[in-house]
Amino acid sequence: MGKSSTKMPEVNLTDLLPHQIPSVAYTIQNMWISLSAMVLAMASFFFTLWVVLPLSMTRPFFPKPKPSLPETETKKVVLIIGASQGIGFSILKQYADEPDTVIVAASRSIDSVRSMAIELGDTVAMLKCAEVDLSGTRKQISEVIKSLDKLYGPISHLYEVSGISSHVKDHGVWGLDITGEMISVNVAGTVASVLSMYDLMKGRGYGKICVVGSIAGLYSPANMISYASTKAFVNNFCTSLRILAAPTGVDVITVQPGLIDTRMTKHMRNQGSTVPGIEFGDPEGLAEQMKAAVEEGGMGIVNWPVRQGVIAYGLQAMNPICQELGGWVLMKMNVAGKRIT
Ligand SMILES: NC(=O)c1ccc[n+]([C@@H]2O[C@H](COP(=O)([O-])OP(=O)(O)OC[C@H]3O[C@@H](n4cnc5c(N)ncnc54)[C@H](OP(=O)(O)O)[C@@H]3O)[C@@H](O)[C@H]2O)c1
Repeated sequence: MGKSSTKMPEVNLTDLLPHQIPSVAYTIQNMWISLSAMVLAMASFFFTLWVVLPLSMTRPFFPKPKPSLPETETKKVVLIIGASQGIGFSILKQYADEPDTVIVAASRSIDSVRSMAIELGDTVAMLKCAEVDLSGTRKQISEVIKSLDKLYGPISHLYEVSGISSHVKDHGVWGLDITGEMISVNVAGTVASVLSMYDLMKGRGYGKICVVGSIAGLYSPANMISYASTKAFVNNFCTSLRILAAPTGVDVITVQPGLIDTRMTKHMRNQGSTVPGIEFGDPEGLAEQMKAAVEEGGMGIVNWPVRQGVIAYGLQAMNPICQELGGWVLMKMNVAGKRIT
């Protein structure tokens, strides 16, 4: 192939601009979308105020369900995928002081889980280390989940926390390979582990599955293209699975964290993110909220810091023209750093 065929063609941006101006028909369609969003937002607000709020006040009058276990089981078995650091490690600490609990701490590399366990020291709960690589095939992931269930289980709780973004890798340019890696871990691997666990749990009529998506899957700067798309999948998949799983006795909780201070966001900040440090929440605080939602029930989604979740849901109400503009503005402001991820 000649050198000239790989050269990017010269494009004059000013020439392109008139084509970007929305047509009248599309603008009117967008105004209808905004009206529809306003009507539905008001209807859902009043439904929540008049129906759901009074109902939520009756909760304390119902007998508390047994914290987590069916009558036949004597111990909790909590599998955490992505327990080596960050949010997953904070979840592990939430269960570390519980008696009659087995924690199966898993991650891509058993070495990183083991060094975490050594650093953590003695725990009241029994701690087991395992390797679960979410970039493996569906069959491999499903088999490893089944074998962990057989070895330490029945597993009563699954926390699927693992996820990758190209912020963490300091090399590589965004494109097919990086997007493929993220789809493989964040989407295919997550679905394989969650559905393998769900199949086992629904057969037993009991279980808790907590999966980490992101507010980036609700709304994000345009340069978070691949990461945000994988998280939109997780958000959507798990909120629907919650409804499908409810009659089987399996409770599914979707976690949509905002900005949390972990390895992932440390890299993002090093790569030029303009978000002030004060906005990055503590992973321990998020883990507390996750455990409360899992153990106490009645909560389909965990947003934390709550303020960031509220804003992200509000941004979803914008019409497509404004969403496009907003995605561009947030990218230009380097909210998620200078990289495309
Ligand atoms: N931090 C935030 O602001 C934020 C916001 C929204 C959502 N999230 C989501 O929260 C989750 C945890 O993120 P974090 O910030 O705690 O990230 P982190 O500190 O980078 O930790 C990521 C975890 O995922 C594990 N992992 C990576 N690739 C894996 C694979 N192929 N198979 C199995 N495990 C793998 C890592 O294990 P190793 O140590 O073995 O690599 C590590 O335990 C992710 O799903 C992320 O997308 C984070």
